[in-house]
Amino acid sequence: MIYLNGKFMPIQEAFVPVLDRGFIFGDGVYEVIPAYSRKLFRLNEHLNRLQYSLDGIRLKNPHTNEEWQSLLEQIIDQNESEDQYIYLHITRGVAKRDHAFPIGVAPTIFIMSNPLLPPPAALLETGVSAITAVDNRWVRCDVKAISLLPNVLLRQLAVDAHAVETILIRDGFLTEGAASNIFVVKNNVLLAPPKSNLMLPGITYDVVLELADHHKIPHEVRQISEKELQNADEILLTSSTKEVLPITTLNEKSINNGKPGVMFNRLYAFYQEFKKTRMRNPI
Ligand code: PDD
Repeated sequence: MIYLNGKFMPIQEAFVPVLDRGFIFGDGVYEVIPAYSRKLFRLNEHLNRLQYSLDGIRLKNPHTNEEWQSLLEQIIDQNESEDQYIYLHITRGVAKRDHAFPIGVAPTIFIMSNPLLPPPAALLETGVSAITAVDNRWVRCDVKAISLLPNVLLRQLAVDAHAVETILIRDGFLTEGAASNIFVVKNNVLLAPPKSNLMLPGITYDVVLELADHHKIPHEVRQISEKELQNADEILLTSSTKEVLPITTLNEKSINNGKPGVMFNRLYAFYQEFKKTRMRNPI
């Protein structure tokens, strides 16, 4: 069951007019929110980022946080899995094609759910491979925009190379993955690129840094050069759907002898524990 513009319905019955600005211009924003045991994880943070994205494209938030929470919980109730990830999508609505904002048009609001499957155990034992590519996206990567063509093309480079993710480099520095944030470990220190307009402020990224703080893991938030990435002791990938994954091959070269490292194993365990206990934020 999905939600579209005020109605709940089976996805097969959901249609959007071809003049929707999401379809014509990619003019909209989205969120991906995990729910574990049918409870939304880090909802406030996701809704804050949604507001930030809406502000970034100058679109009024059509709902209060309480209304969003109620809609999301109804979607969770109407879908089968205990663990789900919710996709929430807002566009500037349906209007005659013109680049300028339409006046007096209602936004299109779409919410769907998919089962959230844990990464297969084998993947956690072997890790995944990644490649690097030049980050050729726009300079508002902090907005979670639905116009994802550059991310699509960059991620496909990984698929073509039989890898899982493309790690992006802008002006010699690591930004993030095509659909994830990236951490580097060197000499037992966890390194994270600083938030800026050049990367999406990941909710999982924040959780990992909070866990590092809480468990007194040495960490630094600073620019990471391409060379540091290549010489990393460990590389970690984070996102709401993949949680924390070890990258054990970069551009066909083994990282940490091709095995997940100590930092990954610790953070993975802390993350699983955090999910259960909801250490700080109950929602
Ligand atoms: N993507 N950077 C990019 C470009 C992303 O697309 C994502 C997530 C992240 C990680 O953010 P978070 O931890 O809040 O999920 C970073 C989602 C999962 C997607 O587009 O499906």
